[in-house]
Amino acid sequence: TDLAAFIARLPKAELHMHIEGSLEPELMFALAKRNQVAIPYDSVEAVRAAYSFSNLQDFLDIYYQGADVLRTEEDFRDLASAYFDRAAADNVAHAEIFFDPQTHTDRGIGFDIVMRGLTAGMDDAHARYGITSRLILCFLRHLDEEAAFATLRMAEPWLHRIEAVGLDSSEMGHPPEKFARVFEAAAALGLKRVAHAGEEGPPDYVRQALDVLKIDRLDHGNRSLEDPSLVARLAREQMTLTVCPLSNLKLCVVGDMADHPIDRMLAEGLRVTINSDDPAYFGGYVNDNFQAAAEARGLGREALLTLARNSFLGAFLPQEEIAAHL
Ligand code: ADE
Ligand code: ZN
Repeated sequence: TDLAAFIARLPKAELHMHIEGSLEPELMFALAKRNQVAIPYDSVEAVRAAYSFSNLQDFLDIYYQGADVLRTEEDFRDLASAYFDRAAADNVAHAEIFFDPQTHTDRGIGFDIVMRGLTAGMDDAHARYGITSRLILCFLRHLDEEAAFATLRMAEPWLHRIEAVGLDSSEMGHPPEKFARVFEAAAALGLKRVAHAGEEGPPDYVRQALDVLKIDRLDHGNRSLEDPSLVARLAREQMTLTVCPLSNLKLCVVGDMADHPIDRMLAEGLRVTINSDDPAYFGGYVNDNFQAAAEARGLGREALLTLARNSFLGAFLPQEEIAAHL
């Protein structure tokens, strides 16, 4: 259709995509074979059939298990390259990619293996497609503060290739303030800060992310809408929200795409963006997310253009590079 063609042609930045969440079942099987790792599925169809979730934790249990096939530098490079092939096809000009080092270091995979593989994939994508990218190191919030500090120490030799720190995994019961000192240390190292908040957690977790973690960008943020004064603040401060429509549907953050608040967020003056979160698990890459939201909520070209422009405005790029994309 016309709208699909418009979405496909729009240059965009993707600001919320977990590289481990871009592991397609086909590559999972190929890596399982290459590394002689047993996986609890006997076909690609069986893997896809297992991707039925009723909340964030259901998903995370399956997602961390899937990551077990990632063992070598080449695996991480192949994973990143597969994502960038899809991103290029979706006209993504810039990507800021989350990775979860603890998911790997806790299995005995070296931090340097992960970094060498991912950065090689990023450099290949720049050479092949002209796509620029940055890495955001996420701390797993279900683990403790000391484990996050140990991860930050491992990152120190790699700070030239890491733009920001983030916070992901199980939100309920793991409020942002648990990582106040880690984020303060990351800031002192010159890193920007983002956090998942208000996906399942209450508006107070969003306030903590702003006030305690001093975030530069808010990941998800959906439940902010329950608190009008918080919405007013996010709009006034022009905080970028990285919203993920298909993820919200699959993890039951919204009951139906027809109830997605993307247009309400735009109407409230929030700087919202559209992203794929974990595209291999949630049924689509960034253009699929634009399309699903546009169809369900009747977004027109003007709204879609605003969402794409917001993705560059919210990117961690120098002002002149942002201006060149607008
Ligand atoms: N890790 C990968 N995707 C995530 C999400 N949507 N929320 C929290 N942690 C995640
Ligand atoms: Zn996420």
